[in-house]
Amino acid sequence: MCGIVGYIGELDAKEILLKGLEKLEYRGYDSAGIAVANEDGVHVYKEKGRIANLREAVNADTKAKTGIGHTRWATHGVPSKKNAHPHQSTTERFTLVHNGVIENYEQLIREHLQGVELKSDTDTEVIVQIVESFVNNGYTVQDAFRQTLKLLKGSYAIALLDNETPETIFVAKNKSPLLVGLGEGFNVVASDAMAMLQVTDQFVELMDKEMVVVNRHQVTIMDLDGIIVERAPYTAELDASDIEKGTYPHFMLKEIDEQPVVLRRIIQEYQNDQGDLIIDSNIADAVGTADRIYIVACGTSYHAGLVGKHFIEKWAQVPVEVHVASEFSYNMPLLSKNPLFIFISQSGETADSRAVLVQVKRLGHRALTITNVPGSTLSREADYTLLLHAGPEIAVASTKAYTAQIAVLAILASVTAEQNGAMASTNLIKELGIVANAMEELCDKKEEFEQIAKEYLSTTRNCFFIGRTIDYYVGLEGALKLKEISYIQAEGFAGGELKHGTIALIENGTPVIALATQEHVNLSIRGNVKEVAARGANPCIISSAGLNHEGDRFVLPAVDSDLTPLVSVIPLQLISYYAALHRGCDVDKPRNLAKSVTVE
Ligand code: F6R
Repeated sequence: MCGIVGYIGELDAKEILLKGLEKLEYRGYDSAGIAVANEDGVHVYKEKGRIANLREAVNADTKAKTGIGHTRWATHGVPSKKNAHPHQSTTERFTLVHNGVIENYEQLIREHLQGVELKSDTDTEVIVQIVESFVNNGYTVQDAFRQTLKLLKGSYAIALLDNETPETIFVAKNKSPLLVGLGEGFNVVASDAMAMLQVTDQFVELMDKEMVVVNRHQVTIMDLDGIIVERAPYTAELDASDIEKGTYPHFMLKEIDEQPVVLRRIIQEYQNDQGDLIIDSNIADAVGTADRIYIVACGTSYHAGLVGKHFIEKWAQVPVEVHVASEFSYNMPLLSKNPLFIFISQSGETADSRAVLVQVKRLGHRALTITNVPGSTLSREADYTLLLHAGPEIAVASTKAYTAQIAVLAILASVTAEQNGAMASTNLIKELGIVANAMEELCDKKEEFEQIAKEYLSTTRNCFFIGRTIDYYVGLEGALKLKEISYIQAEGFAGGELKHGTIALIENGTPVIALATQEHVNLSIRGNVKEVAARGANPCIISSAGLNHEGDRFVLPAVDSDLTPLVSVIPLQLISYYAALHRGCDVDKPRNLAKSVTVE
């Protein structure tokens, strides 16, 4: 969601910025722009739609060594050229890009910008206009920027250019991600390291309410009182090939195929030399001694949390509640006396989850973040972190992060169970190894899932996913995958609940994809399938080997019954992928969505 890049050095800034923005495309956006500064002033280019449109609009003859760029995901004002960033102050001396939401922008307009004619509908333009008004009142640019930042309520990552000093980029951050990258004779700014891996792997993290003055040879970090902060850089451990599609037509397909490799990597990462699963003992203690665990997450990560509840309650015998972060913030349940909060977030930057974490820390409770991104905000601000080791996930629709989250939750539950002397799962390493092989087997059967997508989903306007117990949780994820990339209206439902109302939606030919992987509910889910079939539905049963009945559409390889979500989701991911592909949808960048949702 919104991406920022900046470059100051010796090379052609516009090319580096455009390439950087292309690497941020995965975050989701609806318009893009760059501003480059040279001795003739600042040149701004922006366009609605894809970066390819922006590329066409940029004048190839503009030579500049400093610049900032932005991909916008609309919050205030429709996606349009007018609302795209960069935004400029009235005199066009200052040019700015912003990621986040300025909550008090209307108040700021009333109090600081009377008489100023605003050119866009955005909250962002207010920032650049206030900087200019402070400068008009005699402040240096640095002080004007700092004073402006002090007025802002909400979240921001900002890069600012002053056309009178094209050798400097001013940068600031609060709650939205932003990094400064270091090079020999150049420095860069980026929402995430992937954008600038093309030029450096050395990055410095910025903390909330810090601002930075970035020159070609120097990076000066300070707090909002101007006190200088020293911070060592770190090396971004990303492989450039991780963020390329290679021979795949889409990142989503590549990431689906990576799932067995990721699972094997997780088994390695959480195993000691003796071949036992390990987790930092503080974390296992925190889980084992909590009187209740609150899992907080959004979207796909929330669905993984539901499966995690099953493991933690069954194996570690600790009660678990799973909550949607955006609701929890405003509707906190009565908490137990000694809770542990587990935040699950692929990106580690999701604003809804972070809002809960801030409240939880204020209440003095302990928090563990399970994330794919080391150093992300949710990781830094929690007491403990467990990493997913899934490698960068670029497709907007989460696939490998989901299975990685489930695997890490299984390991956490199993290690805690062992530590507590509770009933652990049997030989989890071996069972996860069997799952990895089963995942591979499923990924090799793409044609079958493509065929199912063709048969059931090519013309339908809706689809149901049903299951019971953990199959229901996977059904929720299957429905989310299908709707977000194919735009088919899809619902995940507990098989037994359909008859309490939703069954009214079943018409002749309505596809109902049913999961049947759990022995104790195998007959009851099949009963539910019969109910919908009797009303004209077109059922597609996906069952586990050993539980299959004649007529099932696909039989999954047998794995440990608690671990079936790791395999049953793969057909659902692939069916969604092919349904979207056949409908001509932009699989990796579905409309209206952002990868990293950094606004509440
Ligand atoms: C769906 C998807 C989203 C995310 C959600 C939370 O495919 O990716 O539902 O799961 O926005 O994101 P994270 O996990 O980054 O907190």
